[in-house]
Amino acid sequence: MEVVKEYVQRWMASGLDPDEYICHGRDGNRVDIEVAATGQRYNVLTFCTNDVLGLVNEPAVRQAAIDAIHQYGTSNSSCAVLSGRIDLHRQLEDEISEFKHLPHTQLFLNAWMAMEALMDAFCHLAIPVPGFQHTRETLIMSDVLNHGCIISALAHANTRSGKAFSQSPKVRVKAFRHCNMDDLARKLKRYAKPDDRIMVVSDAVFSMDGDIFPLPEAIDVLSAYPGSVLVMDEAHASGALGKSGGGIYDHYGITPQDAIDKGVVPLIMTTFSKFAASAGAAISSPEPELKPLLHVSPTSIGTISLPAPVTAAALESIRQVRKRPELVSTLHENTRYLRSRLLEADFETVGTTNVIPVLLPPELDPKTFARHLLDKHGIWVSPIWFIAKPRLRITANALHTKADYDRLIDAMIETRDAIYPKTLTATA
Ligand SMILES: Cc1ncc(COP(=O)(O)O)c(C=O)c1O
Repeated sequence: MEVVKEYVQRWMASGLDPDEYICHGRDGNRVDIEVAATGQRYNVLTFCTNDVLGLVNEPAVRQAAIDAIHQYGTSNSSCAVLSGRIDLHRQLEDEISEFKHLPHTQLFLNAWMAMEALMDAFCHLAIPVPGFQHTRETLIMSDVLNHGCIISALAHANTRSGKAFSQSPKVRVKAFRHCNMDDLARKLKRYAKPDDRIMVVSDAVFSMDGDIFPLPEAIDVLSAYPGSVLVMDEAHASGALGKSGGGIYDHYGITPQDAIDKGVVPLIMTTFSKFAASAGAAISSPEPELKPLLHVSPTSIGTISLPAPVTAAALESIRQVRKRPELVSTLHENTRYLRSRLLEADFETVGTTNVIPVLLPPELDPKTFARHLLDKHGIWVSPIWFIAKPRLRITANALHTKADYDRLIDAMIETRDAIYPKTLTATA
């Protein structure tokens, strides 16, 4: 532990550690928080929640979770493959399948486990079956800015998780430039061998950049590789992209069938922690055979199934999204308004979605900026300096009002003026 101790002490001394906030209660975008280090309490207006459609406190969603507790209790007390599968799991899988236009869906506790299960199932199958020989290598192409759950699963992809060594043929993983389909095409030409199984995996909306994967172009590139698999991580896309919140296919006005028609197998990972007021993840596929493999993957067998209240909240949230498309259009309108106000106020933003990264000039430290916003204005945004390049990360949601955004912009302008180094202001 010596290295850990010395490192952490220096880390804290240099101010690079994240501040810790503890929530004591929440009403829409008003949150009662405590600064863990000082015990100081603030009632703040939040711009850092991922509750994009505002369903976390929606009465129907809360009630569904409460009813599920009455029916099943708080835990299923087993993994799904043994005795922990409940009817709500099946209902949620069916609802997602319809929502995503892919008929076969399997649930997981979270995105990291879903991705790991997908790599295990796709690359390594399951238990040895007499008479079946797995001989084909896998080539996986991954966008360089993919989320950690993908990177992590790919780092293990050559070995089935839960086993010391895999018996399967090799898995080769290559990165392509961010959203660059020419680079993807070039690298596929360079690395794909004739008998390879090919998979491309990417965030649909990039969680630190707020931009959208060029899905139609990717399908075109992959159509040269019949049977190739295209995996979209829709963590920030579901409920947020497309007219009805259907996700990235909806955004581009296409469906997974369009990929299938071009010889590409579309897989979608949905997560429930953002639009669906809950936690958990699902993988949806057009092929029935993937599901039983996901069901017995190490991350399904080796851990608890999705608890009933969590499942019920996600299920009711998806029903709400499908019933109330106005939630999605409000989110889109709010995103447009906030992005335009930020530009008017000379803040540099990237991306186009409700995830809004604001790149500050190098003289402005995001952590100092966010602390000032909290302290002086009661406004909560996420400073980023350790997961990605320094920035503020602001998320628009369907519950914000224009007055909330006007207040945020005024506070950001005041903060910029207050913390901008005075020597630079004098010479500017
Ligand atoms: C692209 C992406 N994938 C996966 C995740 C993880 O999702 P969850 O926390 O719902 O498991 C996130 C969370 O921020 C994400 O942005």
